[in-house]
Parts: sequence; structure tokens; C-alpha cells
Amino acid sequence: MTAHDPEKTSARPMPLPFVSAGPIFTPGRVLPEAGRKLYKLSNNESPLGIGALAARAVVDVSGSQHLYPDPDGMVLAEAICQVNDIDPGRVLVGPGSESIINWIVRGWAGIDDEVLYSEHGFQAYRIRAMSAGARPVAAPETNLYADVDSLLAAVTERTRLVFVANPNNPTGTFITPTELARLLAGLRPDIMLIVDEAYYEYVATDEYQSFLEIVDDQAENVMVLRTFSKFYGLAGLRVGWVYAPRFAIDALERIRGPYAVSGVALAAAEAAMRDQVHISAAREHNDHWLNWTQEHLRALGYETTDSVGNFVTLKIPGGVEAARVFDGKLRELGFVGRLADQNGLPDWLRLTIGSAEAMQALIPAIASLTE
Ligand SMILES: Cc1ncc(COP(=O)(O)O)c(C=O)c1O
Repeated sequence: MTAHDPEKTSARPMPLPFVSAGPIFTPGRVLPEAGRKLYKLSNNESPLGIGALAARAVVDVSGSQHLYPDPDGMVLAEAICQVNDIDPGRVLVGPGSESIINWIVRGWAGIDDEVLYSEHGFQAYRIRAMSAGARPVAAPETNLYADVDSLLAAVTERTRLVFVANPNNPTGTFITPTELARLLAGLRPDIMLIVDEAYYEYVATDEYQSFLEIVDDQAENVMVLRTFSKFYGLAGLRVGWVYAPRFAIDALERIRGPYAVSGVALAAAEAAMRDQVHISAAREHNDHWLNWTQEHLRALGYETTDSVGNFVTLKIPGGVEAARVFDGKLRELGFVGRLADQNGLPDWLRLTIGSAEAMQALIPAIASLTE
């Protein structure tokens, strides 16, 4: 495929064919319905909301919004390095990690290059690859876990990028640092591995470890992604970051351009990272309600994944149509979930860990739909 065919004229200035033909990200959209209480459990947003320190930071900077923000978000990037004890100069901030995924694809994968990801991985990897004219390649998983051997077996000479969300969305499962290191060791040095740690802060088991340390020690072909959207409760402000080798940060800076993240978002993110009260509350809330919800769903007879994120994912018995009906009925009862049909799991439903009230009401609602 070529980007443009100079021989061909068109009555309209058409976008590149792979841009028009590509899939569109399906957001967890919830329209307000008059007089009805709806629990939105479809976007993995924090039920605790924005923390007190971040909220104060938003107010504090509100008077200077006629000025451009810090052009490259350096103050936040330095704070991220300090808090995570990582190398300054290797962090780049952007308006949400989904945008950074897009930049990575733009920077490293062109037409007919291959972007490899784990079969039930986050949908942005496939969508962003297609909108760049690259080929998305899904490596089969084993029991809803990313499978390193299967990823390595799917590598071809056209592979440029490998995305692994750890923990993954929508399954909530993770692979160990040893397995990730084995994946990295098995990749050619010209292939970039991106470990997407959007749900890192929620993970409560010792078997899990961030891959950030490996970026420090290892070769030049690994990046780690994080976001302020989930655990820190700042989804609406759009802030994410990537830790990457310096040459890759340099390329990403060129793609990003200046002023990509608003001053309000930068200030809130920095405050959120230092808000120990909010951080502890978010951790305690999720630990408790994740286990509680998972246990109750299993007691009702549902198969669930071993999610370590801020969501549970359960299989709806009876196949794809039954799952659609179940999702619709649950919505009528006031709970908006997310079928994982964009991730190759159309009869699995993902439900965010919401407020205590939402979770306590959810279980009887699901029980009422259970045969
Ligand atoms: C695995 C994963 N990565 C990245 C993102 C993008 O998050 P954001 O763009 O809000 O930082 C999400 C959001 O759902 C996600 O689940």
C-alpha cells in the first residue's frame, strides 16, 4: 500500500485510505437519563474522584490560564522522576497515555510494518496501528494471560513494536517481571517493547513488579507507560507519561510538540502524586472492593478473571447474544458495564470497582439476572 497515488485524482481531498478505513475507539459512553440513577462502571474511573491536594492545585493555577503552560511539562516530569526514583531526562508527559501510544506508533511503525500485541490487549494498540497504515498482529493468549512464547512466535521481520499491558485491560491479569524480561531478551534489538502499566498502582500482590527498573538497566528497546487517569482520579484532565531511552524521548518530543498538557492538568498531576491520604484511600478502597466483588460474583457461580486492576471481568454464560442481553438488563437496573467485544471477548463483561454503594447494589442486581 502506498500513502498517496499521484496518478489518482479525487473530487475531494481524501484522507489517507487507512485513516478512513480504520476502526474507531469505542469509549464507555453514558448519556444521562432523566430521573434515573446510573452507576457508570464502564471506564475504570476512580470512585474516589479527584483528591484534595489536586483539587486545590487546580484552583491555585486557575488565575494563570491566559498563559501557555510549561511547554514540555518539565516540572511534572522531574517530580515523576523524584517520586519514582528514576533517571531524569527519560520521562515524557502527554495528554493521557492513549495519546502517547499514538505517538509511539507514529514514531516507529509505518505502512505495512507490524505492531504486535497480546490477543485480548487494550484496544488502542490495534486501532492506532491501523490508523498509521501498519498491521496489527494479535498473539494468542493462554487462559486470558499474555503468553511470552506466543508473542515471540508471532514476531516477523516486519515487527516494529510489541505492546503488553501489565496488568492488562480488560482481563486484569498480569505477567511476572521474569516473563517480561524473557520477552525482552527474545526480541531483536530493533523491536521496541512497550509495557503499559495503566493499572500498576492497584496491584496488591508481591508477584507483580513494575518494569521501570528494567528500563534503567536494559538495552535501548523498552518503554513503560503510566497514567494519572485511573488510580489518581484525573481522567478528565488527561495526563500520562512514558519512561523510555533518551533517543526515544527525543523522537517523541518532536512528535508531541509544545504545550501538549494544560497547566491545570500538570499542576493537578504533580499534587496527586504527593497526596498520601488520597493514595492510601484509593488503595484501601480497591483492595477491599475488588476482593469482595470478585468473591461475590464467584459465589453466584460466575467465572471471573484473576483481576488485579480496578475492575472485575466476568464471563456471561450462554454466548455472545446472551451477554448482550445481560448487559442491557444490567443497564436497565442502573449499572453500565463494558462488554469486552473490542478485545475479542464478546461474552465477557468488565465492571469497574465503583463506590461501596455501587458495589453493594451491584451484587443483588446481578443475582436477580442469574439463572
Ligand atoms: C491499558 C490501558 N492503557 C492506556 C489507557 C489510556 O489511559 P489514558 O489515555 O486516560 O491515560 C487505558 C485506559 O483505559 C488502559 O486501560
